[in-house]
Amino acid sequence: AIAVIDFGSQYTHLIARRVRELEVYSEIIPATAGRERIAHLNARGIILSGGPASVYDAGAPAIADWVLQSNIPVLGICYGMQAMVHQLGGTVTPGDAREYGHADLRVAESSSRLLAGVGASAPVWMSHGDRVERLPEGMATLARTDNSDCAAVSDGQQWFGLQFHPEVQHTPDGMTILRNFVREICGCSGSWTAGNFVADTVARVKEQVGSDRVICGLSGGVDSSVAAALLHQAVGSQLTCIFVNNGLLRHGEAEEVQETFNENMGMDLRYIDASDRFLDGLRGVTDPETKRKTIGNEFIRVFEDAAAEIENVRWLAQGTLYPDVIESETPENRASARIKSHHNVGGLPERMNFSLVEPLRYLFKDEVRAVGLELGLPEEIIYRQPFPGPGLAIRIIGEVTPERVELLRDCDRIVLEEIHDAGLYRDIWQSFAVLTDNRTVGVMGDYRTYGYACAIRAVNSEDAMTADWVRLPYDVLARVSNRIVNEVDGVNRVVYDITSKPPGTIEWE
Ligand code: XMP
Repeated sequence: AIAVIDFGSQYTHLIARRVRELEVYSEIIPATAGRERIAHLNARGIILSGGPASVYDAGAPAIADWVLQSNIPVLGICYGMQAMVHQLGGTVTPGDAREYGHADLRVAESSSRLLAGVGASAPVWMSHGDRVERLPEGMATLARTDNSDCAAVSDGQQWFGLQFHPEVQHTPDGMTILRNFVREICGCSGSWTAGNFVADTVARVKEQVGSDRVICGLSGGVDSSVAAALLHQAVGSQLTCIFVNNGLLRHGEAEEVQETFNENMGMDLRYIDASDRFLDGLRGVTDPETKRKTIGNEFIRVFEDAAAEIENVRWLAQGTLYPDVIESETPENRASARIKSHHNVGGLPERMNFSLVEPLRYLFKDEVRAVGLELGLPEEIIYRQPFPGPGLAIRIIGEVTPERVELLRDCDRIVLEEIHDAGLYRDIWQSFAVLTDNRTVGVMGDYRTYGYACAIRAVNSEDAMTADWVRLPYDVLARVSNRIVNEVDGVNRVVYDITSKPPGTIEWE
């Protein structure tokens, strides 16, 4: 495995993901952690991430002594390289100009193990202020750019440094360089595959859970579906899944979950239709955060009631993913203001006194998908667009009534049908309809209509933190608009939301 030491770069996750794409397991370790933190990893190499600091800043994060004293190869990237040079006795100076973006790498030492396979000149992506002025003894330059004599450096043995970012797409040879480091220099073999993960995890979960009963809340989304399928593979009939229909789901969703898990996989699935409870609770509520709280609290009550009917449960399985784990580990780097309260099932484990099984705790999203395919889950579930826990309620501006849920569900179904038919579904992060509380005048036949305006939203995103609206083809928009106005009685106008995030958010509420 490879330990990725995090100095706060926005690309740290990406480094870990790239290493795993090379079929080598990697884990992100906070810069302040002690040696014991990597004891379980059997690390054959260490990568030091970039970061926003300058080595001369007061309180700049330093490379821990145990890393400097380790005898395994270390690759410093950007700040990681500067910190390495600085702490090994070289000189780093504040740059006059920030170098940001594209640069041309000229390879000086073509026989180096790190840059093997990279052409004499290669585009790379830079993002730094300081630069390396003098190398520590024993280290030499492997490649230069116009701005930097030390764009790639090494002592040929243990220490390797890159001023640019090999992990980003804008460095086309980046994967070659990372492969050289991980596979050739560190000697890691490629055993991190979905198949091996499933085999290992099934064995581990079996041992952890023994003959106890496990429950799992199934939402129909990718994460909980894959967690449930994995648990089912491990403990079979000891697992009971609970699926709550909150009355705020998309068209056909409840049926699809039952078909997949109950009929096709033979899982013990408790389907609970609590639509009335949720819709009753939402009566008169218009504030977005109050909607979320109402739905979140109701979910906990419904789930608890359902769980109480299953005897001898000791474990609760959850589809927690690695980005959430990393997030909670490094609050100082990644703290952010709370715009919306997203995690509405967070209260479950403490209240219910179960132990947690989190089989996806160390996986990134794309790995979860690969594991799901390995487990034989249908592609409709694996590649499903994210859908918020509060469901259609936060896409209905104003009060959520059963009639308005029906209106939105119809509009939304049409949007998705057309997106599917145009072959665009998988290329879009999220696409959906929003029911506004604006009524507008229209004309149909010779009659005046007065109906709701429906908004269409389609965005692309990597991680939901930022997003851009999708340039949907006009003919797709035209079909969506035409069908909604004709087929959904009560909606007489369709608009397309062309706001990116920021400044907008993905959902309207
Ligand atoms: P925003 O609207 O904040 O959404 O740009 C970012 C991502 O989070 C989803 N979202 C939610 N998910 N409960 C959830 O489980 C929520 O209350 C919630 N609000 C937003 C949204 O769909 C998008 O993917």
